[in-house]
Amino acid sequence: MKTRVLIVRTALALTVVLVAGCTDTEQIFLAFPLFDDPPSGAAGFLGYSDQENKLPVCGNCHVGKNAEWQETAHASAWETLQASGSAQPFCEGCHTVGQNGNASESSGGHEATGDPRYYDVQCESCHGPGLAHVTNPDASQPLASIMVGVDLTSGCGECHQGSHHGFVDEWAQSRHGDGANRPQYREREGCRNCHGARGALEAWGVDAEYLEKDGTEEIGIVCAVCHDPHDATNAGQLRFPVDSREVDVNLCMKCHQRRPVPDMDRQSSGPHSPQGPLLLGENVGWQPPNFEYADLLIRSTHGSEANPRLCATCHVNAYEVTDALTGDFVLSVKGHSFKPIPCIDAQGIPDPAADCELSERTFSSCTTSGCHGSEDAARSAYIVATSRIAALVDELNALLALVPSTEFDNEDNLLTVAEGAKFNAKLGAISSSAIHNPFLTEALLTASIRQVQTDYGLAPVSRVSLDNLLPK
Ligand code: HEC
Ligand code: HEC
Ligand code: HEC
Ligand code: HEC
Ligand code: HEC
Ligand code: HEC
Ligand code: HEC
Ligand code: HEC
Repeated sequence: MKTRVLIVRTALALTVVLVAGCTDTEQIFLAFPLFDDPPSGAAGFLGYSDQENKLPVCGNCHVGKNAEWQETAHASAWETLQASGSAQPFCEGCHTVGQNGNASESSGGHEATGDPRYYDVQCESCHGPGLAHVTNPDASQPLASIMVGVDLTSGCGECHQGSHHGFVDEWAQSRHGDGANRPQYREREGCRNCHGARGALEAWGVDAEYLEKDGTEEIGIVCAVCHDPHDATNAGQLRFPVDSREVDVNLCMKCHQRRPVPDMDRQSSGPHSPQGPLLLGENVGWQPPNFEYADLLIRSTHGSEANPRLCATCHVNAYEVTDALTGDFVLSVKGHSFKPIPCIDAQGIPDPAADCELSERTFSSCTTSGCHGSEDAARSAYIVATSRIAALVDELNALLALVPSTEFDNEDNLLTVAEGAKFNAKLGAISSSAIHNPFLTEALLTASIRQVQTDYGLAPVSRVSLDNLLPK
């Protein structure tokens, strides 16, 4: 039997409802989609009206969203499963429409009916059963949720979990997730643009409707902040590319660039998430008068064209752990703890929460990318750079301790040499600066030390060399 959708607006087929969007206009057609009544037990899930052409019932009206979604991997999840050669019934729940990924708690859709109309990860996988909405679009809206339960039972994480797809398991332990991050800033004005999901989406002009949009609960940097649920334009369905060299375009740098240079209104504040500008060597640190540093050298190799994935090369490093003896699959690591050099156990399984010696960390992100010849070579480079920077920071701090305190005045509108140098000392003290841009960090520190010595007539405290020594 076919169901005709009750048209509430007008009797016109193909009435176009234009809903204003920020960057694009979403067209919603109020057509007369024909679809077979859902089989009994479907629990309100509609699935495809035309399975062959990948046209979910929703897509008859939401043509724009449908065209985007058809390009995503979700739209071919069933074929992928079948093509794997190891499809089994228990695989199907995450490769079809049903209770996974939405608020529905009863088995419905594919699990209850086995009907091919529920193949693939369709709209209703995230938006929930659509029968009520489709019959009367004005009366109920199946808004998707952006929440990701750390109990792994809701949102994207309901499918993206486990030893093969442990995205949520890793994310939950990251500071983007719920691990150790700071919920108090997620909704605070001035902080929420980067520390919270709602604020970030707002700042980026994503004005799409979702369940929590007008709520007040504090939400961390969830999957749907970085990933566009529908749009596969960027690799990995990311909202913004990770290979852009512009700090306001690059996904990671959009947030990781709060205070890369001294702020005249807050002269005592050190850098705040300077990683983006530092990696690229642009607009970062306090530059002493006559600071000379060849443009070509300002970019460390890590921020150069030799590393096209930039932050993601080191911080989103996916690889397989296999059994050393048998070669059998153990775990697929997804890089979603965002840790570049996590501690690993004897089997090679990372533990993002652990703290350990450098020798017990994997440096595989440095080699899988083809940049360093071996993990040991990368580890040595790390040790050389961090100890060199640490020695310079110590020297600079020792000198600054000898500068009269009147040189540090937060209220005046003047940045003294001592204040600028102190900013650089704090930049160098962020241990990762020695990795993100060793050469520029070293140059800023040596130049600051020289300037402080000259301006305040101070003799060197230690014998640390003020040449730029780090091997380029
Ligand atoms: C008969 C056409 C039609 C079908 C089929 C349809 N929708 Fe809608 N949908 C609409 C209209 C019209 C609106 C706008 C309602 C309003 O503004 O009050 C809407 C609104 C929405 C919204 C709210 C966001 C917004 O832009 O206002 C979501 C989410 C949504 N639909 C998802 C779905 C999903 C998921 C399905 C499939 C289960 C679906 N729709 C099927 C016509 C349809
Ligand atoms: C019903 C289960 C399910 C839900 C819910 C779900 N996914 Fe997926 N997702 C899959 C499956 C299965 C694939 C693999 C499809 C394929 O390769 O054919 C996939 C693929 C992807 C991919 C592409 C991976 C690739 O290899 O190209 C991204 C990105 C993704 N999902 C993100 C998300 C995000 C973000 C959410 C939540 C907003 C989400 N998914 C919700 C099951 C799901
Ligand atoms: C808990 C949900 C879930 C179950 C159960 C599940 N999958 Fe998936 N599958 C996913 C998700 C999510 C992705 C996409 C993310 C990724 O590539 O890791 C995916 C991707 C895939 C892919 C393409 C990427 C790859 O890893 O090669 C294949 C093939 C696949 N699944 C086969 C299977 C098979 C075979 C089974 C059963 C033995 C199965 N899946 C069970 C969620 C699931
Ligand atoms: C432009 C984006 C942005 C804004 C706005 C922002 N932050 Fe952050 N903040 C970040 C990023 C990214 C990190 C994580 C990177 C890091 O720790 O360097 C971070 C880290 C922090 C940390 C931890 C620092 C550490 O060393 O562990 C604190 C505390 C913090 N922010 C407080 C705030 C407060 C309070 C506000 C609002 C007054 C705020 N942030 C506004 C991006 C921002
Ligand atoms: C992987 C999960 C997922 C899938 C699959 C999915 N959506 Fe969404 N949808 C979301 C989330 C999350 C949002 C809110 C955030 C956003 O749009 O970026 C959303 C937002 C929407 C909106 C609101 C747009 C606006 O401008 O207000 C509509 C309409 C919509 N989806 C329709 C669809 C349709 C139709 C399909 C299938 C063709 C679909 N979605 C597939 C998760 C999903
Ligand atoms: C801070 C941003 C960020 C967050 C949060 C995030 N991801 Fe990702 N994700 C990435 C990046 C970057 C990649 C790598 C894309 C690439 O290499 O092109 C990626 C890759 C993926 C892929 C594989 C895509 C592919 O083409 O192979 C899937 C699937 C995925 N993420 C799912 C998730 C899920 C599920 C969550 C939430 C539990 C999540 N991500 C949270 C940034 C993020
Ligand atoms: C929406 C803003 C936002 C985006 C996009 C974002 N981050 Fe973050 N990131 C943060 C904030 C905020 C924190 C600190 C959270 C806290 O500690 O409260 C953080 C923390 C981190 C940390 C943990 C730092 C530590 O001390 O352990 C790393 C690493 C990181 N981000 C890397 C990345 C990478 C790589 C990307 C891109 C794939 C990215 N981030 C994208 C906002 C963002
Ligand atoms: C060459 C590899 C590499 C690249 C590229 C890279 N990082 Fe890192 N990052 C590291 C390493 C190594 C650490 C130190 C981790 C540790 O000590 O556990 C680190 C640390 C961090 C931290 C923790 C800050 C702290 O408190 O020390 C954040 C946040 C971060 N990176 C963000 C980013 C962002 C954002 C980008 C891109 C702009 C980026 N990283 C590019 C390797 C890299």
